[in-house]
Amino acid sequence: MSAVPVGTSLNVPSYVKHKKLIQWVESIARLAQPDRVVWCDGSVQESERLCDEMVRAGTLRRLNAAKRPNSFLAWSDPSDVARVEDRTFICTETAQEAGPTNNWMDPAQMRATLNGLFSGCMRGRTMYVIPFSMGPLGSHISQIGVEVSDSPYVVVNMRLMTRMGRAVFDVLREDGEFVPCVHSVGQPLAAGQKDVPWPCNDTKYIVHFPKTREIWSFGSGYGGNALLGKKCLALRIASYMGRDEGWLAEHMLIVAVTTPAGKKYHVAAAFPSACGKTNFAMLIPPSAFAGWKVSTIGEDIAWIKPHEDGRLYAINPEFGCFGVAPGTSDRSNHNAMAMLHSNVIFTNVALTDDGDVWWEGMGPPPAHLIDWQGKDWTPDCGRKAAHPNARFTVAAMQCPSIDVDWEDPNGVPIDAFVFGGRRSDTVPLVTEARNWTEGVYMAATMGSETTAAAAGAQGVLRRDPFAMLPFCGYNMAEHFAHWLELGEKLAAGGARLPKLFCVNWFRTDEKGRFIWPGFAENMRVLQWIVERIEGHGGGEEHLLGVTPRYEDLNWSGLSFSFDNYQRVTEIDAAQWRRELALHGELFEKLRDGLPQALQGVRQKLQRSLPA
Ligand code: OXD
Ligand code: MN
Repeated sequence: MSAVPVGTSLNVPSYVKHKKLIQWVESIARLAQPDRVVWCDGSVQESERLCDEMVRAGTLRRLNAAKRPNSFLAWSDPSDVARVEDRTFICTETAQEAGPTNNWMDPAQMRATLNGLFSGCMRGRTMYVIPFSMGPLGSHISQIGVEVSDSPYVVVNMRLMTRMGRAVFDVLREDGEFVPCVHSVGQPLAAGQKDVPWPCNDTKYIVHFPKTREIWSFGSGYGGNALLGKKCLALRIASYMGRDEGWLAEHMLIVAVTTPAGKKYHVAAAFPSACGKTNFAMLIPPSAFAGWKVSTIGEDIAWIKPHEDGRLYAINPEFGCFGVAPGTSDRSNHNAMAMLHSNVIFTNVALTDDGDVWWEGMGPPPAHLIDWQGKDWTPDCGRKAAHPNARFTVAAMQCPSIDVDWEDPNGVPIDAFVFGGRRSDTVPLVTEARNWTEGVYMAATMGSETTAAAAGAQGVLRRDPFAMLPFCGYNMAEHFAHWLELGEKLAAGGARLPKLFCVNWFRTDEKGRFIWPGFAENMRVLQWIVERIEGHGGGEEHLLGVTPRYEDLNWSGLSFSFDNYQRVTEIDAAQWRRELALHGELFEKLRDGLPQALQGVRQKLQRSLPA
């Protein structure tokens, strides 16, 4: 790590040879006017030094080393706790290219706005230059990014979430391609002004220029807004790249399922934020499933490319997990709890009296805590101890279920895609699409009740196509077309296409309680999916596709009644009439560029509904 005063020279480390990159860093330094520039090398020493500095500044608390070695807790400003979808912009040349589900602004106008906001915005602070790779270093699927940020919290989180540091420059050499990412918390310091533990700004902009592959983020330190390799690069910019280059960047976990016969299959599954992706990615089969094994390749993002053998292969471009803490427990996700034993950065969870962490759903509440806002907390105080979107950041390789192939630079072949939303009614437990087009329709019309992962109201049903509503870097209607075209292309090459499924773990009873036990019990659905891939799973065809009959699922070790099964699989004609009307509203919104084939599926479903 080398610190330098701006003005005379950037004092670039001798191993950085990339002129264009150096010029870009200089241009940002000139604009934002930080007091100094630091080039990050990604070393343990660098991270330790920054954590020590943040402990002194009050940004981090060091947790009890006996209970949670080398781990820290950050409490954000209460206004800066989630992604800000209404402040997220896709600045394509035309509004049509961004599509009606994205916020759009004319690129020139946005550049003028950003120039004003970033001018002098790093005064009094250090600007860190953070080189990172999304995907294994040097893999043909990977992309290099360089983030400049005035937040040391961003540096230490990027080191856990990406392959970050000096080795990236060996890949970039003198003229390699990189995605320039600019981030500022947007709170400059005047000479002598004391800093706050979590600087941020009420004005927030998370901006993408897909054509020039640039990202600019202002005003927030929250992960999804500030760790620019994740949602901004690996989803919004990468989905745009994928559209142009014939591949997919999806909001999907990737798991490997090994059967008792030793066959290994790979499933990629899309769920909206905070719908249990991490739990599903780290699922431990119930004890009755002797011989079955589930291993984790990724838990949030998949980059999926056609391979020479005609199949789709996926990599997890990330290096760590930025998971939702509340609800994580030994019961819901034993593997996640195990991976959190050390080397973790927690954000907005509660602090126990013995210097450890606690959140709702972890287990019985302690008699006293300090909550995420630094206030005394007791179980009867009526407030949540952890923010509902509190997070942990941890390296993926600490996950006990991490798959041996998780860093394979060529990725793993995908056998099935699963699409799931949070629906208290209407959508059955699991349905297999009859063909690629109907599966794309299922994904395109996914709905989900909103969660705390984004700022705004929770529990509101909204359409979240492919779980990509906040993450698609171009027109969503075109995304549907892209999927359909990819399917056609693969089929024309003679490939066996992955099977497509739609799932819903979240149906509730009259009292609002979940009927399906979920978590590890989702293995029963996963087994059926594997049996369908292998061609011997039973099922019954209905309006939407094929769903297992009660007797088609493996019930060993669980007592779940036939009646309850009916309640999680029932297709209610009145509910589906409403549902299809909502699909119609979505299609109306996306009418420019919407593939005719999807309208065709909707019309067919409408005709098949009993009067
Ligand atoms: C996430 C999200 O953080 O989807 O993964 O919001
Ligand atoms: Mn996510």
